[in-house]
Amino acid sequence: KAGIKRELITAHTVKDTLPVREMNSHKGKAGKALVIAGSESMPGAAVLTANACLRAGAGLLSLAIPQSIQTIVASQSTESTFIVLENTKGSISPNAFSDAISFNNFHGVAIGPGLGRANSYPLFKTLQPYSGLVVIDADGLYHLSQELPLWRSEQRQGATIITPHPGEMAMLTALSVAEVEQNRFEVSKSFAKTYQMYVVLKGPYTIITTPEGHQYVNTTGNASLAKGGSGDVLTGIILGFLLQHKSIQDALCNAVYVHGITADRLMENLDTFSVVATDLIDTLPIVLRSAR
Ligand code: APR
Ligand code: MG
Repeated sequence: KAGIKRELITAHTVKDTLPVREMNSHKGKAGKALVIAGSESMPGAAVLTANACLRAGAGLLSLAIPQSIQTIVASQSTESTFIVLENTKGSISPNAFSDAISFNNFHGVAIGPGLGRANSYPLFKTLQPYSGLVVIDADGLYHLSQELPLWRSEQRQGATIITPHPGEMAMLTALSVAEVEQNRFEVSKSFAKTYQMYVVLKGPYTIITTPEGHQYVNTTGNASLAKGGSGDVLTGIILGFLLQHKSIQDALCNAVYVHGITADRLMENLDTFSVVATDLIDTLPIVLRSAR
């Protein structure tokens, strides 16, 4: 259709749009990120998202986690600072979530990896007044699915980005996973336009859709990414990149591209069975350097 783009993400588009950090930058200018993640059964998700976000350029990172996992998470994420929240059923307490965080201190927020489903969280009520960027992933998408009508009737001031895998997209749309898989472009576009969100529909050939319906397709990455934690790393890279880029779609395209390239680069020396999510974070710096 006239005026609607569908494009491939390439090494050239990434090279042309990856920002350079100014010589006189300081940590506040490089972006203050907040990650709300983790629970007693999934502390590693918080670690992976936070560390990936820091490796992707965030200047300061605060990690909001339940009190019961603070010691273990802090031991794995040296550069994060912590917002330690009350713990209910092994996860962040519902009220602690909305009451104890000053969202306006942050340029962007990622919520969801390892968050758990034991409690319910008033996402819309909490995030609607916040004017920064919000990335919703994993269990955050489950909580979003419980209150979708609220998001349809009213918009946030800031941009909202969702990063579902096909199963999560099926949950959000009440379609089957097969229906999502067979109509990846159409399902993404319809959701993005209805809710005025950016949609990153993951899987081999991840598709990024803007609220206007422009679509970008990624071709990097390989089957070594089919392992728990690789999505959490992507969420961290996305948040880190959002804080470095002026254009949201450039940030999303570049994040998805370099996430895939880290796995492709690891395949030069490792077996597909053996790559774990932490390896992706460790490889990001060298991949970023050669992407410029
Ligand atoms: N080829 C290319 N890329 C792939 C492939 C593949 N065969 N398989 C997976 N990927 C990429 C996806 O595009 C995506 O970027 O790996 C990432 C996987 O993300 P998720 O599906 O979110 O996986 P995961 O890290 O396990 O998520 C952690 O969140 O989604 C919930 O239920 C999930 O609790 C789990 C948690
Ligand atoms: Mg995931």
